[in-house]
Amino acid sequence: MMNYVQAETVGTARDGSIKLHGPEAFAGMRKAGQVAAACLDMLVPMVQPGVTTEAIDDAAREFVLDNGAIPACLGYRGYQHTVCTSVNHVVCHGIPASKPLKNGDIVNIDVTVIVDGWHGDTSRMYPVGQINRKAERLINITYEALMLGIAQVKPGNTVGDIGAVIQKFAHGERCSVVDEFCGHGLGRLFHDEPNILHVGTHGQGEVLKEGMFFTIEPMINLGKANTKVLSDGWTAVTRDKKLTAQFEHSMGVTANGVEIFTKSPAGLDRPPYI
Ligand code: MF3
Ligand code: CO
Ligand code: CO
Repeated sequence: MMNYVQAETVGTARDGSIKLHGPEAFAGMRKAGQVAAACLDMLVPMVQPGVTTEAIDDAAREFVLDNGAIPACLGYRGYQHTVCTSVNHVVCHGIPASKPLKNGDIVNIDVTVIVDGWHGDTSRMYPVGQINRKAERLINITYEALMLGIAQVKPGNTVGDIGAVIQKFAHGERCSVVDEFCGHGLGRLFHDEPNILHVGTHGQGEVLKEGMFFTIEPMINLGKANTKVLSDGWTAVTRDKKLTAQFEHSMGVTANGVEIFTKSPAGLDRPPYI
């Protein structure tokens, strides 16, 4: 059984308990989430055929620093970049590189920033030029899966309720759900309790309580769910090399439901970004 603690009364270490936060923490998370979301907004016009994911990473780093924030990924477990850029069959943790994006690619850009000690973690899919219909369909299904999961977030529901609706929806669309990576608690820590699985059973898992902060970040595949991590130690790919997509929001449980901290200030939460 998970133990819940008032976050102000404990240290910041990952001690196995679930932290419950008050109004000041919500304000901190709102600020961090909005810088992360504005960074993804800023990148929208830049994601075009010919641009390198390294150039995207450079622009993201400069934006984050210019906005008084710290790139959380830079130096995290040895990671050397501000964003993860996961192209086509890369599920997550793709490393920015000198290879240009090409027309028809789809890329997930995932950024995490720290503002006044609070983490804002969010990712979106970006179409590169003109993409085909199955890529567009996968992106739409993945965004809908995230939002269906978020709609389950309120006190008294469980982590299993989130996973169950995502799994049911994705399978109904003949897609699979990656179960080897998950969402996570966050706050003063980047990755904390609880794990937020994107598969599950209604009523199972930790009970959601007011003041919990976590991400939901489903990875949905056109083919099979299986993934592997490449020899660089980071890049996770689909084993069958079929397309995969992901969206991520950071949120807090409120008295009645949920507050999404990483909603796009420009209304660019999902493609098409016109
Ligand atoms: N932002 C990712 C997440 O959603 C984690 C990236 S870890 C890094 O949890 F080191 F690759 F940056
Ligand atoms: Co995350
Ligand atoms: Co992320």
